[in-house]
Amino acid sequence: MCGIIGILGSHQVAPQLVEALKRLEYRGYDSAGVATINADGQLDRRRAVGKLVNLSDRLVTDPLPGQSGIGHTRWATHGAATEENAHPHHRGGIAVVHNGIIENFKELRAELVAAGYNPESDTDTETVAMLTARHLDQGMSPVEAARATLSLLKGAFALAFLFDGEADLMVAARKGSPLVVGHGEGEMFVGSDAIALAPFTDRITYLEDGDHVIVTRAGAEIFDADGQPVSRDMATIDVGATAIDKGGYRHFMAKEIAEQPAVLGDVLSHYIKGDRIVLPDGMDFSEVDRITLVACGTAYLAGYVAKYWFEKLAGLPCDLDVASEFRYREPPLSEKSWGIFVSQSGETADTLAALHYARGKVAKTVGVVNVGTSAIARDTDTALPTMAGVEVCVASSKAFTCQLAVLAVLALKAAQDRGMLDDAALARHLADLRGIPALVNQALSTADDCEKLAEWLSESADVLFLGRGPLYPVALEGALKLKELSYIHAEGYASGELKHGPIALIDQNMPVVVVAPRDELFEKTVSNMQEVMARHGQVLLVSDAAGIEEAGDGIHAPLTMPTGGGLFQPIVYAVPMQYLAYFTAVAKGTDVDQPRNLAKSVTVE
Ligand code: F6R
Repeated sequence: MCGIIGILGSHQVAPQLVEALKRLEYRGYDSAGVATINADGQLDRRRAVGKLVNLSDRLVTDPLPGQSGIGHTRWATHGAATEENAHPHHRGGIAVVHNGIIENFKELRAELVAAGYNPESDTDTETVAMLTARHLDQGMSPVEAARATLSLLKGAFALAFLFDGEADLMVAARKGSPLVVGHGEGEMFVGSDAIALAPFTDRITYLEDGDHVIVTRAGAEIFDADGQPVSRDMATIDVGATAIDKGGYRHFMAKEIAEQPAVLGDVLSHYIKGDRIVLPDGMDFSEVDRITLVACGTAYLAGYVAKYWFEKLAGLPCDLDVASEFRYREPPLSEKSWGIFVSQSGETADTLAALHYARGKVAKTVGVVNVGTSAIARDTDTALPTMAGVEVCVASSKAFTCQLAVLAVLALKAAQDRGMLDDAALARHLADLRGIPALVNQALSTADDCEKLAEWLSESADVLFLGRGPLYPVALEGALKLKELSYIHAEGYASGELKHGPIALIDQNMPVVVVAPRDELFEKTVSNMQEVMARHGQVLLVSDAAGIEEAGDGIHAPLTMPTGGGLFQPIVYAVPMQYLAYFTAVAKGTDVDQPRNLAKSVTVE
C-alpha cells in the first residue's frame, strides 16, 4: 500500500507527479504529497490530507516549481492521516517517500533522538529521512548517506530520495515492496508500478528484491542486494492496456462488472481450444497428491469455490488457507503437492510470503494472477494470467470471476489428468464453462432489480448471506462486497450452519440473501429458508426460475437468474452479489470505487 513516484524531468514536474499519483491512488488515499527541487536547488513540498484532489487543489493556489520531484499517496500504517504524517518527509537536506513498513524504526528513532534529531511526525518513514540527514551531517555524499541508511533498515520498503542541491540525482530502493524504473528521453522515472509511469514512458525495468538504483537523467545504475552493479532487463509495456477511464459509467465498479462477459470470454478462449484444455508445459496433475490454495480476501473466496471443484471433479484433496494464517502456521506440505496462489495484484504481502514459504517444499507453485509483471507472477514456477484487464475499483469484481474461470480450467485439467472424467463428461463440463460468458451477460440484466432491492438493503443495519456447496463462498463474497462498499454489517454462512448460532439474529428487520440455484442441494436450502421465514426473517432468494417457483410463498423478494452453467454457476451468481453491493453503496452515497480505509494492493502484513 501507498504509492510512490519519482521524476527527473525536463519541465515542471508537479503536474506529472499528480498525474502519476492519480494512477497510484488505488494503493491508498488517506493523504498525498509532492516535493520538488526549486530553481535555487532547494527542496520544497506540498501535502494534503484526504484524496489526491485536495493536493491538486492546493497546488493550484500554491504551485510548486521544479523539474525534479517525488510524490506519494498514503495508506496510513504508523500515525493518523494528518498533514504532519503525510509524505514526502523532509529532514535536513533530504526528502523521502516510502511504501512499506520499517520494522525497526523505534530503535532507530531512539538512537536519533539521543543524537539530537527530534521527530516531527509519528511515522516510521520520517526515521528514514532523519537517518539520511544524520549521515549527510556526518559528511557523507548523498549516495553514501542513502546507502548507509538502507543498510540499517529492517522490514519492507520501496523508497525514493531527493537531495538539496542535487537536481539530477535520485536514489531509490526496494525490499519487499514493488518498484520499477522508467526510461524516457532525457527524463527518468521511478514508481510503484508501470501503470503510474504509462503516461510518460513504455520502457520499464522491474527492480529485484534488495536492489537499489542511482538515477540521473542520463540513465539508471542498478545495484543488487550485495551492493554489486547488475543489469536488469528493460521491458516494453503495452501502454494501451493501462488505460484507466470509466468509459461512460458512473463508477469504475459498474464498468468492471459490465466487462465480465468480454473478459471471461477472453480468458476462457485462451485456455480452452475446442475440446482441449491448453495450459503451459508441465501442468500435468497425474502425480499430484494434494493442492494447497492460498490467497486473501476475495481471491481467497475464489480459492474456496475452487476447493469444491478440485475435490468434486478431480477427487484431489485441497487445503485452503488465508495467506496471513498460512505463513505463520508453517503447515507441513507434501512434496508431491502443488501450491496455488491466487491474487489480482500479485503483490499482496501475505500471499507473496506464503508463496516463498511453500517454494522448495511443494512440487510446483502456480500463480493465478491478474498483473502479469507482479512479484507473484514472477516468483511462481508457472503463472497463469487471469486476463481481466486493469481493475481500478478497489473492490474486486471482474478479477474475481476471471480467477474462478482459470481455477475451473485447472480443476477440469486435474480431473482429466487423474482419469476422473471420460471424454463425454469432460466435453459436457467444457461446454458448461464455455457457456459462462453468455450466462454472465444475461445475469447483468439483474441490475435493475438489484437497484430496487438495494433501497431496502441500504436501510438495514445487518444482512445475512446464505449458500450451500460452491455457492457458499459466493454468499461469503456477497457479504464481503456489501461490507466493504456500503459499510453495512454483513455475514455469510453455509445455509446448514444457520441453526447452529446465527439464527438467533433473525427477526423482521434482518434481510437474508439466499444464493441457491435449483440444484441437487436446493431442497435442503428451502428448509433453511423456511426456518428463517418462520422467524419473520425477510428472504431475498437469488435463484433460477425453477428455484423461485419451487420455493413457493413467503419469499420477501425473488431475484431471477438465468438457468445453466452446471458446476460453474458460482461465476454467474457472483454478478448479483456485486450489483447488490454496488447499488446499496450508491443508495447510501458511499465512495464506491475507493471505500474508506481500504487499498487495492495490500503490500504490508
Ligand atoms: C475485496 C478485495 C480484496 C482482495 C484482497 C487480495 O473486494 O478486492 O479482498 O481480494 O486484498 O488482493 P489480491 O487479489 O490483489 O491479492
